[in-house]
Amino acid sequence: MLPLDFLASLLDRSCMSKTLWYPYSAMTTHGLKSPPLEIVSAEGSHLIAKDGRRYIDGIGSWWVSSLGHQHPRLIQALKSQADQMCHVALAGITHEPAEQLADALVEITPANLDRVFFSDNGSTAIEVAARIALQYFVQTGQANKKQFMTLSHAFHGDTVASASFSDMPEFHQHMQSICFESIRIPSPADGEEASLHAVRQSLEERGQSIAAMIIEPLIQGAGGMQMYSADYLKQLVNLLKSHDVLLISDEIFVGYGRTGKMWAMDHAEVSPDIMCVSKGFTGGLLPMAATLSSEVVFQAFVDRDDGYDRTLRYGHTFCANPLGAAVALEVIDVFRDEKVLAQLEPRMLLLEQAMQRMLMLSNVKKVRRCGMVAAIELEPEKQSGYLDQVGWKVAHELLSLGVYLRPLGNVLYFVPALNMPLVVLQEMLEKTELVLNKQRIN
Ligand SMILES: Cc1ncc(COP(=O)(O)O)c(C=O)c1O
Repeated sequence: MLPLDFLASLLDRSCMSKTLWYPYSAMTTHGLKSPPLEIVSAEGSHLIAKDGRRYIDGIGSWWVSSLGHQHPRLIQALKSQADQMCHVALAGITHEPAEQLADALVEITPANLDRVFFSDNGSTAIEVAARIALQYFVQTGQANKKQFMTLSHAFHGDTVASASFSDMPEFHQHMQSICFESIRIPSPADGEEASLHAVRQSLEERGQSIAAMIIEPLIQGAGGMQMYSADYLKQLVNLLKSHDVLLISDEIFVGYGRTGKMWAMDHAEVSPDIMCVSKGFTGGLLPMAATLSSEVVFQAFVDRDDGYDRTLRYGHTFCANPLGAAVALEVIDVFRDEKVLAQLEPRMLLLEQAMQRMLMLSNVKKVRRCGMVAAIELEPEKQSGYLDQVGWKVAHELLSLGVYLRPLGNVLYFVPALNMPLVVLQEMLEKTELVLNKQRIN
């Protein structure tokens, strides 16, 4: 049973717009099929609804709010920049926030990433990476290298190229006719040896036609919070290098401390050739992304006055938006000043202990955790996967208790702010345990 005041608040949503078309959501002619929660403000780890109820944001608002909502330093950086200049084109003109941010990113990212290209969301960062990889090989005399290797369970975004690299039929089945094929490697989450074997085999058979492999390092997010080891990354880097295949690391979800280190690749102490960042990049304030490349890759694009056009003819209107850049710079400073990574240990411990307890429940199939991501794979109602309803039922119950989660089918997961107070984290985990226990008995 849901509390009466919660049910009443759900019914009091008749004012919702009929014109708004929501992402990933079943719609009716009158708007969303399930009434949404109307949020009027956010504060730290909480979302505050129109009726004053507070909800713990257990997924950092789709994995972006790494430093909590309305972080005062980020808000101040945004306001100061807004007072000075909101947007100018990065075309024949430049500005300090973009210049400083590029330098700061090169400082904090893995060793060989020396060049920075800005865009405005995760999918575009992936598109940029693909374009750079293809053009790099054309301009280094290996135009036959055109194919990409990708992983099963992958998700890299919803634009045509990023969807083509993904393995999410639930999202992309209706656009298959405009997607292109990639060489699909079994995910290391299903067996690292088998995955490496498949990589080796593909490289031996057709390495001369493969431009790059694109991966989500350590955690495949939307594919069900699938996890694998840093050792796999180490071996993968060596394999790809030996066949002159670029590694594109999609750190859009796992970057900015999510795995316990600043970058997932840091766990393996290896550098990719190209890396994509977004989400935590602006602490969730503004849509912005960056694609970083090695100097070796960049050098293929350098003009040599020989009449050959090596320009990367690619860009987005809002690339390097000064507001986003100013906030992203402040995010880097906050990570340093507030020692965000050094404070993760007790939070990771809480998550781990809760996962181990929940593993004991009969309706829990598996649990996994990496850094500040924890996932509970529930016994599915029908079939494991995104379309199973069991996670939604748990999430609905949790909403009535003041916890906002969004499952991936039968996978319920937590992606809290990295600085979520321990008591709030504890409350969220205890309430989840309570609901799972209740569901087990019912
Ligand atoms: C690993 C990964 N790559 C790319 C994307 C796409 O980012 P966006 O939704 O900003 O286009 C996502 C989004 O969830 C993601 O998790």
